[in-house]
This record gives sequence, structure tokens and C-alpha cells, in this order.
Amino acid sequence: MLTMASSPNGLTVRAPAKVNLTLRVLGTRPDGYHALESLVAGVTLFDTLHLALDDGMSLACSGAAAGADVPAGDANLVLRAARVLRETCGVGEGARLALEKHIPPGRGFGGGSSDAAAALVGLNALWDTGLGREELARLGATIGSDVPLFLGPPLAVMRGRGEEIEPARGRSSWHLVLAWPDFGLSTADVYAAYDRLPAKEDGGPSAADLLDRLDGLAREAKPFLVNDLEPAADSIRGARPGLRAVLEAAGAEAVGMTGSGSAYFAAADTEADARRWADAARSGGATTYLARLLGDGIEQQEISP
Ligand code: C5P
Repeated sequence: MLTMASSPNGLTVRAPAKVNLTLRVLGTRPDGYHALESLVAGVTLFDTLHLALDDGMSLACSGAAAGADVPAGDANLVLRAARVLRETCGVGEGARLALEKHIPPGRGFGGGSSDAAAALVGLNALWDTGLGREELARLGATIGSDVPLFLGPPLAVMRGRGEEIEPARGRSSWHLVLAWPDFGLSTADVYAAYDRLPAKEDGGPSAADLLDRLDGLAREAKPFLVNDLEPAADSIRGARPGLRAVLEAAGAEAVGMTGSGSAYFAAADTEADARRWADAARSGGATTYLARLLGDGIEQQEISP
């Protein structure tokens, strides 16, 4: 779901956000991670990574989401991806990287993982290291569970700890309101909270159930937008504002939480509905973005609120 283009000084990679339209936790794995099944879609909210050859390695961040929550130095997944590729392929040269950050971190949009995937793809081209997508995905999985997702198509079913990607085909004309509060949630904390909650009963809708309905009306998808991590995210959020209630009070029916939160999305059949619900979420203190699902028909169209 990444797109790469050459630029005057090197390369530019557009790194989209993702939304987990469904997320089922199927159990705990021997390695301590959780086994998942999730229908995941790329959406039209992007970071942009600029890459140019250089002697050393450097990363500069700019953009609306480049605040204190975006780690600097080697804790940034972009630099970690660069180091992993350099060490794996014995690369001698470096790169000057500039990241325009619009995907807010800690909200469940996978921005850091998308940036890491963009770094792998961009540096693989810049340094001419010649790795295939599968090799890049294997390296990506060592950086974060979500990284391989971004090296695949814009719609996929994710399994395992997130690294098993099954491409999916689907068309949807939904308008998505993305809404996030002024606090993020740590993925590790949300999974730990999930383990403290009583085990849920098996059953409920699967990724395939929603996939069959992506081309239908958004409001009919309501029963299928399940995210098993939502009660865990709620338990950490405590009394801080929950966006599900705000979006539903404004009239949204198909509302879901993405990833481990704290962001929510609402699927609308018309842009007018989406704008109305976004207004309500902003009045409730959230930041919003109107997006579409990437994929057939809608490729790289960008819509802002
Ligand atoms: O792989 P990643 O570093 O993105 O995961 C962050 C944390 O989220 C992990 O350390 C783990 O606690 C939790 N996690 C999990 N099961 C998954 C993915 C992540 O328990 N499938």
C-alpha cells in the first residue's frame, strides 16, 4: 500500500495509515504475543518519507503529528529499519531522511510501522540492495508486528501476531471519519489490560463476514466492526473521553476502534454524514480527518476535513 516516486534529490515514499475494520484476539501464543485475525485497510491519511544518499544516517521530522510522541534517534522505527537493512545487506553508505508526519502516533493507525515499511522499500531502492518484498517483510516483522502489512496490498486479512498477510479483494464507497483524542495508548499496555479482563466467549463475526459486506451500505456493517481490544482500551482510558459515544450520539451507526486505540472511525454512506459526525467529534475535543479506504477505484485520493 506504499507508493514510491523519484524526486530531485532522491526518492519519496508515501506511507498510509491503516484502520483495523475488525480485530479478533484468538488467544495467547507461546512467545507472549496474541494471535489475531483482523481485516485491515489502508486509508487516505499519509506520512511522507523523503530519502537522499548521504555519508551518515540522519532523520528529521516535521508535520502536524511530529510532536513529542514521535521518538527521536534509534527508537524511531525509521532509523531502526535503516539499521536492520544496512546490517543485513552490509551497506556502507548512509542516507538523509526527512519524515513529514501527519499520522498521529499511539492512536492505532500504524503510522510508525508504515514509516518503517517506507524506509525499507525506499532504502532498498536507494542503496540498490535488491531485496524482494518477502525478504523485506521478514525484516519488517523483526521491527514491529504491523510492518509487513504495509508492504502488502491496501486491503488484507492479518493473522498470527500480525505478520501473516492474506491479500483481500473488496470495494467500498464508504466515507470514513477518523477521530482521535489528545492522548495515545500504548499497544503493550492495552494487550496487558486485555489479559487482565475476564476471557470472552468464542464466536462472533469474522474478517470474512465484513469483507462480504464492504460493498454494501456502511450502516449495515455495524454488527461486524468488532474489536476485541476495545474493553481493554476502555479500562486504561478510564474517565477520559470515549469517542464511540460522541460519534454514535451524532448519528453514526458503523463505529469501530482501530488497533489498540485510542482512535475511532465511523463509516458513512455520504460525505455529508461524515462531515456532520466529524464536526460533532471535534466539538467533543477530538481531532478528525475525512478519509477513504485505499484500493480499487480510490487509489491515492486525499480528502481533508
Ligand atoms: O510488535 P509490536 O512491537 O508492534 O508490539 C507491541 C506490543 O504489543 C508487544 O510488545 C506486545 O506486548 C503487544 N502485542 C501482542 N500481540 C500482538 C501484537 C502486539 O501482545 N499480536
